[in-house]
Amino acid sequence: MPSRILVAYASKRGSTTEVAAAVARELERPGIAAEVIGIDSVLSLEPYDGLVIGAPVYTGKLFGDVASFVRRHINEIGRIPVAAFLTGIAPVYPKAGDPMQVIGLMTTALQPVTPVAVTMFAGKLDPSNQSFAERSLTKLLKVPVGDFRDWNAIAAWSRQLPDLMGLGEPKAADRK
Ligand SMILES: Cc1cc2nc3c(=O)[nH]c(=O)nc-3n(C[C@H](O)[C@H](O)[C@H](O)COP(=O)(O)O)c2cc1C
Repeated sequence: MPSRILVAYASKRGSTTEVAAAVARELERPGIAAEVIGIDSVLSLEPYDGLVIGAPVYTGKLFGDVASFVRRHINEIGRIPVAAFLTGIAPVYPKAGDPMQVIGLMTTALQPVTPVAVTMFAGKLDPSNQSFAERSLTKLLKVPVGDFRDWNAIAAWSRQLPDLMGLGEPKAADRK
């Protein structure tokens, strides 16, 4: 039976959903069964051997209630390894905040779970997909618009997760 990893994501405008799908695609390469589900639609963690949580950052806060998700699944979440990623503009536009600080927010939201890995990826800002208030705010703050998602970086991070989660292929020397 292949290991099963759930990629649970929050997304306001859809770009983090696509990042979650890319993480899952990369996890499937070594034969892991990966599922992508919106964080509020996850019914149970029981079927899974590992969990990846992804969420964007809006005005310095995590979008999506990761802390409630952890509380809702507290009886199952301690049993499996957890990794997390954030998306946002900060990695390419430092004025939007310090990526390490929002990584800290994610780490806090995950407590009492200690993740095996947490990172922040550059996201996507599409003015045609924003509310008037959002467009005004990003314009006022001179936030660059565009798709800054680095698919190679997302794939590279995802590729190391099975090993970090202890779900990687056994090495030839251990396979006796
Ligand atoms: C109104 C607004 C506020 C934002 N605030 C932040 C922020 O504080 N820090 C950051 O890194 N990115 C910020 N972003 C960028 C988003 O995190 C980025 O666009 C992300 O890819 C959106 O993900 P989604 O499409 O899944 O909702 C902001 C974007 C908007 C439109």
